[in-house]
Amino acid sequence: MPSQQAVLVVGGTGRTGRHVLHQLLERGVHVRAIVRSSGRLAPEVAGNPNLTVIEASPLSLPDEHLQRHLRGCDAVISCLGHVLSLKGIFGPPHDLVTRATSRLCRGIEALQPAAPVKFILMSSVSVHRAGGLDTRRGTLERAFLRALCGVLPPAADNQRAADFLQEKIGAGHPFVQWTVVRPDSLLPGDVSEYTVHEGLVNGLFAPGSTNMANVAHFMCELVTAPKTWANWKARLPVIVNAGASGAATSRPA
Ligand SMILES: NC(=O)c1ccc[n+]([C@@H]2O[C@H](COP(=O)([O-])OP(=O)(O)OC[C@H]3O[C@@H](n4cnc5c(N)ncnc54)[C@H](OP(=O)(O)O)[C@@H]3O)[C@@H](O)[C@H]2O)c1
Repeated sequence: MPSQQAVLVVGGTGRTGRHVLHQLLERGVHVRAIVRSSGRLAPEVAGNPNLTVIEASPLSLPDEHLQRHLRGCDAVISCLGHVLSLKGIFGPPHDLVTRATSRLCRGIEALQPAAPVKFILMSSVSVHRAGGLDTRRGTLERAFLRALCGVLPPAADNQRAADFLQEKIGAGHPFVQWTVVRPDSLLPGDVSEYTVHEGLVNGLFAPGSTNMANVAHFMCELVTAPKTWANWKARLPVIVNAGASGAATSRPA
C-alpha cells in the first residue's frame, strides 16, 4: 500500500465515521477530515500527525476551499447521516447526504485529477439499485419504502444521494469512480468476519446486522486494496456480518 495515499472523510465524528478515521490512520493513510466540531473527534485519532482536521460544514465550505481540500486526494469517504433526534430527522438540511455528495463530486470534477478519485458513500439497505435490480424486494417492501421516503427525509436523502451517483456520475466518469456501501442494522463491536453481496440479503422486516467496525474495514479495503475496488466500483454492495447468508467475499482474518 503506498503510504502517501490521502483520503478526505466527511462524517468522521459519527458512530461509523470514527471507525473509518481510526482504521485509515492505522493503515498509514493521510486523512483530511471535515468536521463540524473537532471536539467530537475520537480521542484515539485526535492529534495524530497523519490527520488534518478542517473545522467546517461540507455544505457551507466555499467551492474553492472544498477543492483545496480535495486536491491530491485518492479517495473521499462519506459517513454523513442525519442525527437521530426529532430536529436531526425532520429539521433542515433535508438533503445533507445528497448535497454533500454532489458538492464533493463536482469539486473533484473541477480539479480534473490525472487519475479518477474514488468516492465511497455509506448508505443503507433501504436504498435500492437503479433499474429494479434489487429483485429480492417484494411489492409490500417496495410500497413500505416508498412511504418511508415520503415521511422520513433521511430515507429519501440516502436514496437521492445513491441515485445521483448511479445516474448523474454513472459508471464511465473520467474523474470520479464510486461505490455505495449498504450495511444492514448497525451494531457496535470490533472488526469480525463479514460478507459482501451484490444484492440484498435480508428482507426489510427481518433485518440482518452489520458491525460499524466492519463497514469501516470494508471502506478502508476499497481505498487500499485495488482488487476490492475493481470488484465493487460502480456497484452498491450490501455488507452483513458473517453467518447471515451465502458469502460473496469475506474479510481476511
Ligand atoms: N442507524 C442504522 O442502523 C443505519 C443502518 C444502515 C445505514 N445507516 C446510514 O449510515 C450513515 C451513517 O450512520 P451513523 O449512524 O454512523 O452516523 P451518525 O453517528 O449519525 O453520524 C452522522 C455524521 O454526520 C454528521 N452530520 C450530521 N448532520 C450534519 C450536518 N447538518 N452538517 C454536517 N455534518 C452533519 C455528524 O456530525 P456531528 O458529529 O457534528 O453531529 C456525524 O459526523 C447514515 O447515512 C445512515 O443513514 C444507518
